[in-house]
Amino acid sequence: MANYPGWETERRFAPSHLSKVVREIFAAAGMSSDDASEIAESLVAADQRGIFSHGTLRVPEYLEKLTVGGVNPRGRPRVTSSVGGALSVDGDNAMGQVVAAFAMRMAIERARETKVAFVAVRGSNHCGALERWVLRAASEGMVGLASTNALPTMAPWGGRDKIVGMNPFSAAFPGGSDPPIVLDMAFGATAHGKIRVYHQKGRAIPEGWAFDAEGQPTTDTAAAMTGLIQPVGQHKGIGLAIVMGMLSTLLSGASYGTELGDMVAGAKPGHDGHFFVALDIAAFQPLEEVRARADKISREIQQSRPVDPATRLYPPGLLEAEFERLYGRDGIPLSDGTIEGIRSAARKMGMPGEVLA
Ligand SMILES: NC(=O)c1ccc[n+]([C@@H]2O[C@H](COP(=O)([O-])OP(=O)(O)OC[C@H]3O[C@@H](n4cnc5c(N)ncnc54)[C@H](O)[C@@H]3O)[C@@H](O)[C@H]2O)c1
Repeated sequence: MANYPGWETERRFAPSHLSKVVREIFAAAGMSSDDASEIAESLVAADQRGIFSHGTLRVPEYLEKLTVGGVNPRGRPRVTSSVGGALSVDGDNAMGQVVAAFAMRMAIERARETKVAFVAVRGSNHCGALERWVLRAASEGMVGLASTNALPTMAPWGGRDKIVGMNPFSAAFPGGSDPPIVLDMAFGATAHGKIRVYHQKGRAIPEGWAFDAEGQPTTDTAAAMTGLIQPVGQHKGIGLAIVMGMLSTLLSGASYGTELGDMVAGAKPGHDGHFFVALDIAAFQPLEEVRARADKISREIQQSRPVDPATRLYPPGLLEAEFERLYGRDGIPLSDGTIEGIRSAARKMGMPGEVLA
């Protein structure tokens, strides 16, 4: 449960009910019913796949972006340039999920013609868990790739200035009879939210997660919260984060690093950048062969020998696929904090908090 902010309660909610409540909150904030559905379903899907840090926990923050934060509830993304497989999209300061859904759809449609399509996006906002968008390419028999710029939380390797974002990257390959292989990872060793959870519990964070403000390794949560997140893989992780941030912003003209804002003031509305790529597999190799080989790779990983015989080995994305099945059957467990956040968002929009029951 690496990605869960707290197991205080085990109250469970059917995904369809959760989605309906969240959709109504965003519709009440002025979004069209299609756009409100897009965002509700993407947040609930993240929860259902165990990515709680990017699920309905975000409802209050997203509602604030829409009501007082300057994001346009009625923003309409559009293609601003189109040359072969190279497309540029302006998100019109819509919610990032609305922009991401549009841009990935453009990438898939264009890749049917040109076989490779790269969509550079500007004018967007936080777009949630990236895997949702690349999985759409995989469901069309394509490889999907995506990245986004994020607020700076890290320093260059050996440095102390907070100028590099965790700029996550996601890639999905369609499977045959097995779930797609989908990697979705940020290049920070942890997320800010996870440090906050340790702080609330009065526990030291593991070594390797954070530096203090002077760039020294720390396990103290207070020092970590005012300090820096450590990158994964030392200089290599920072290098990947820098390159992903550049790919997400330089080709589209979006804001890179500190141009986007900081962790105190937040992101400037409509300044975020992403990229989405679709590769039409059948243009390279027979699709069924690639699907079968992806399944073979997945099974080879699962059948390889663990160090500890009690440990199960997973290919990227399989844990999430298992949560999706489990929580689809038993309901999604939400923490007290997340439940109260959704209820108070509902109340703010004139709905009874008990709408989430
Ligand atoms: N939109 C944004 O601005 C933004 C910014 C940062 C992060 N994010 C999102 O945050 C989410 C969480 O990122 P993260 O880096 O904390 O992810 P994570 O560390 O939880 O998982 C990273 C990857 O590792 C795989 N994995 C996890 N445990 C595994 C195991 N035991 N064995 C094998 N594989 C395993 C997962 O399938 C996943 O693909 C992602 O969805 C990311 O897109 C978004």
